[in-house]
Amino acid sequence: MRGEWKEWTTFVAAMLLGSLLIVDSVALAQKPDPRRIEHIPGSSQAYTRAQTTSMFVAPDWWPQDHPPMPQIVAHRRGKAWPCAHCHLPTGLGRPEDAATAGLPLAYLLEQIKAFRDGERVSPIMREELSHVSDADLELAAGYFSSLRFTPWTRVIETASVPKTHTEYYGLAPTKGAGNEPIGNRIILVPVNPELTGLGDTRSGYIAYVPPGSIERGTVIAAKGVGAAPACESCHGADLRGVGVIPPLAGRMPNYIVHELLNLQDGKRRGPATLPMQQEVSKLTLTDMIAVAAYAASRKP
Ligand code: HEC
Ligand code: HEC
Repeated sequence: MRGEWKEWTTFVAAMLLGSLLIVDSVALAQKPDPRRIEHIPGSSQAYTRAQTTSMFVAPDWWPQDHPPMPQIVAHRRGKAWPCAHCHLPTGLGRPEDAATAGLPLAYLLEQIKAFRDGERVSPIMREELSHVSDADLELAAGYFSSLRFTPWTRVIETASVPKTHTEYYGLAPTKGAGNEPIGNRIILVPVNPELTGLGDTRSGYIAYVPPGSIERGTVIAAKGVGAAPACESCHGADLRGVGVIPPLAGRMPNYIVHELLNLQDGKRRGPATLPMQQEVSKLTLTDMIAVAAYAASRKP
C-alpha cells in the first residue's frame, strides 16, 4: 500500500515537473529573455532583446545602408520616440507605418502639418509630433526625403494564404496552421519573421493578393473607374510620383489601401486632399486592393 502510494506521488511529482518544464519552455519560446543579446548574421551591431522591441530605440543593424541620421530620427528625445523606430533607418517603414523614404520634402512637411492640425487623423503621429520641435521635424523630413526608396515587398497573386497571427510589427504566418482562402484581402508577412522581429532592414516582406488583382489594378491606374480619373494622370507613369504628388510604386499595398480608406472616411481631409476625395468616392474595396497590388508591384 505504502509502496503504491510512494510510486503514485513520484508519478504525480514527475507529471508536475514535466508540465512545469513544458509551460516554462512554451513561455520562453513566446517571450525571450529581455536581457538576451541579439545578433544578425553579417552585422557587427548587437542589441538586447528589450532594445529591439522598445519604442524608444531604433535598432540600426546596417549603418552602411543609409547616410548618418539626425538625432531625432535615430534616438529618443524626452518623450519623443525616434522616428526610425517606426519608419526605420532606411525610411522603408514597418507594415503599419508609412515608407517615408524618397517622398518629396514639401509633401512630407505638409503631412506633418496635417497630423498636427488634425486634418490627417493618426493618434500615434499626433502623440509623437506633440513632443518634437519644428527644427527637428525639418531635419527629419529632410533626411527621409533624401533617401532612395528601394522596394522590399514582393507581390504574389494567390487564392490560398498561410494562416496568420499578429506579432507586434504586423502579421506573421502561424507555424503548422496550414492555409486558408485569401478572400478579398491583402495578407502581408515578413519573408523571415525572426529577422523582421529584430528590426532587420535587409529582410523584406511578401504581399499576397487575390488572383487577377494586378491586371485589374493596371486598368484602374491607366484608365480610372467611372468618373474618377486614372491614377497615373496625377501620380505619373508607373505611379512614380510627379512634383509634390507622392509616388506609390513599390510601396506596401496594405498602406495604400489604408490611406484610400482614410481618405474615404474623412480621416484625411483638407484642401490638399481634394483631388483624392473625388477619386476615392468611386472606389470599392476590391478596386482599392487591385490598384494597391498593381502599385506595389511597380518599380519606383
Ligand atoms: C510610433 C510609430 C511612429 C513614430 C515614432 C513616427 N511615426 Fe510617422 N507615421 C506612423 C504611422 C502609423 C503613420 C501612418 C499614419 C496614417 O496615415 O494612419 C505615419 C506616417 C508618417 C508620415 C506620412 C507619410 C506619407 O506617406 O504620407 C510622415 C511624413 C511621418 N510619419 C513622419 C514622421 C517623423 C518625421 C517622425 C519622427 C519625428 C515620425 N513620423 C515618427 C508612425 C510613427
Ligand atoms: C486628380 C489627381 C489625382 C488622382 C487622379 C489620383 N490621385 Fe492620389 N493623390 C493626389 C494628391 C494631390 C495626393 C496628396 C494628397 C495630400 O497631400 O494629402 C494623393 C495622395 C495619394 C495617396 C497617399 C500616399 C501617401 O504616401 O500617403 C494614395 C495612396 C493615393 N493618392 C492613391 C491614388 C490612387 C490609387 C489613385 C487612382 C485610383 C489616385 N491616387 C488618383 C492626387 C491624385
